[in-house]
Amino acid sequence: MKEIHSYWAYIVLAILIFTVINAIIGLTQKKQFTDKDLRVGLFTLIVSHIQLLIGLGWYFMSPWYKALKMGAADVMGDKTARLLAVEHPLMMIIAIVLITIGWSKHKKKTEDAAKFKTFAIFYGIALLLILSRIPWSNWF
Ligand code: HEM
Repeated sequence: MKEIHSYWAYIVLAILIFTVINAIIGLTQKKQFTDKDLRVGLFTLIVSHIQLLIGLGWYFMSPWYKALKMGAADVMGDKTARLLAVEHPLMMIIAIVLITIGWSKHKKKTEDAAKFKTFAIFYGIALLLILSRIPWSNWF
């Protein structure tokens, strides 16, 4: 489970970065919002929700959840344990909620620029949150 989560993260990051850059280009160059742009956003939504499920699955099997149950104060006092047991999972959930909000908000927009802007803002903030709380030293 941990390994799948680790490999799936490459797909999540790659497609999320692509979607954000695509939205910024679409917005700045006043492009038409096509089916391709819609599919890119939808694919990102699906890929990130799969990562959420894998992450939740691993979390409840992981030593980090057990450590948190046994002593929250000890976990919170240790930087590495706090990142893996609390900060990373919470921040990733918030990021995926933002992606989901961005997806549903873009559907209600009628103008192409507004659709690109919604993706750029919501998916963009999600990307920054994800990058800020990935356990980089464990990953590489
Ligand atoms: C966009 C969503 C997410 C991304 C991109 C992501 C990415 C990552 C990466 C790159 C690692 C390091 C993997 C390694 O050590 O090889 C990791 C670890 C971890 N993730 Fe996520 N994650 C996401 C969501 C979640 C969620 C929603 C949860 C739980 C609710 C979660 C729980 C964990 C845990 C517990 C670890 C620690 C693994 C360990 O060292 O035991 N992740 N994640």
